[in-house]
Amino acid sequence: MYTSRITGVGSYVPETIVTNDDLSKLMDTNDAWIQERTGIKERRHIQKGDGNSTSSMGVKAAEIAIKRANLTKDAIDLIIFATLSPDMYFPGGGVRVQDMMGMSTIPALDVRNQCSGFVYGLSVADQFIKTGMYTNVLIIGSENHSGGLDMTTRGRSVSVIFGDGAGAVVLSRNEKEDGSGILSTHLHSEGAHAKELCLEGPNTGAWVPELMESNPQENIPYFPYMNGQFVFKHAVSRFSEVILEGLQANALQASDIDMLIPHQANLRISQFVQKKFQLSDDQVYNNIQRYGNTTAASIPIALAEAWEEGKIKEGDLVVLAAFGSGFTWGSAMIKW
Ligand code: ACO
Repeated sequence: MYTSRITGVGSYVPETIVTNDDLSKLMDTNDAWIQERTGIKERRHIQKGDGNSTSSMGVKAAEIAIKRANLTKDAIDLIIFATLSPDMYFPGGGVRVQDMMGMSTIPALDVRNQCSGFVYGLSVADQFIKTGMYTNVLIIGSENHSGGLDMTTRGRSVSVIFGDGAGAVVLSRNEKEDGSGILSTHLHSEGAHAKELCLEGPNTGAWVPELMESNPQENIPYFPYMNGQFVFKHAVSRFSEVILEGLQANALQASDIDMLIPHQANLRISQFVQKKFQLSDDQVYNNIQRYGNTTAASIPIALAEAWEEGKIKEGDLVVLAAFGSGFTWGSAMIKW
């Protein structure tokens, strides 16, 4: 059986910075509330006409990752695209990327696992490489949240949290025989809580035209809903469990972690996990302060930035962990 390793990382965020003060001009919120509850200072938003979309941002991140892997697009055998905010209801973003990048008729697979989408995608890619079916898999997480948020006071508890951006990695067959690469991945879900963090419409049980006829405008469920405190409580325990599961599967201790990259859900969640595993600030990477929560894109963006800043070195134990809507959660243990 083969093993896999990450050979290239890349990220892209739209140019427009939206500060907490900018949001307070649109809704009843303020910088102190947002920073205290989430750690977020600013996020990036696509602007109408700036040429960005979920797929095109994914392409920009992917091009960087492929270059850093010393490959060309022709070497990619499979695209895995994770998002909760696709350009179109269908088809998904994977085929859009394949077309925009001018790739051959390679398969494109979309992953609908929200904040855990990247870790799920990485795990799927790892399985394909282990069996020998594929050699290089492009995994993208990309989100255009700003296009679908309720930017009025009604939506403030959700809208202030999310930002736009994309991250990508190339996962390749590992040519090294030094124990490096993906050590293990661990995935979970609990659909009983699907409605605690969701966007219900449009859906095939209640199409928008039907809803528009039978509901006053403000009840149409095409904005995301989040039961914040419920999500927070589950997030801190599931993050901890799935990191521990990964450590135990590899007979490792928390002190062996060189870099933990948690999904950037909320700085308070990351800090809780950091404290639980007694990790120093140098062992955990956070950039939610600058980008907000970019859902499926948050881990690959953070991974790319940590790598660019020289915070991930050969031989390091890098742990990725995610939790989000579904609920779904997962971790990946990587020897860099
Ligand atoms: N600005 C100002 N006031 C606000 C805002 C806002 N943006 N949003 C809500 N409020 C008000 C509420 O209306 C409420 O007012 P009230 O007391 O008069 O009713 C008050 O602030 C407190 O609201 P809560 O919802 O109880 O605030 P809480 O302390 O729970 O913080 C938050 C909300 C930040 C969403 C928190 O629950 C949280 O972090 N949850 C975790 C969920 C999370 O991180 N999700 C990220 C996406 S999911 C994922 O990626 C895992």
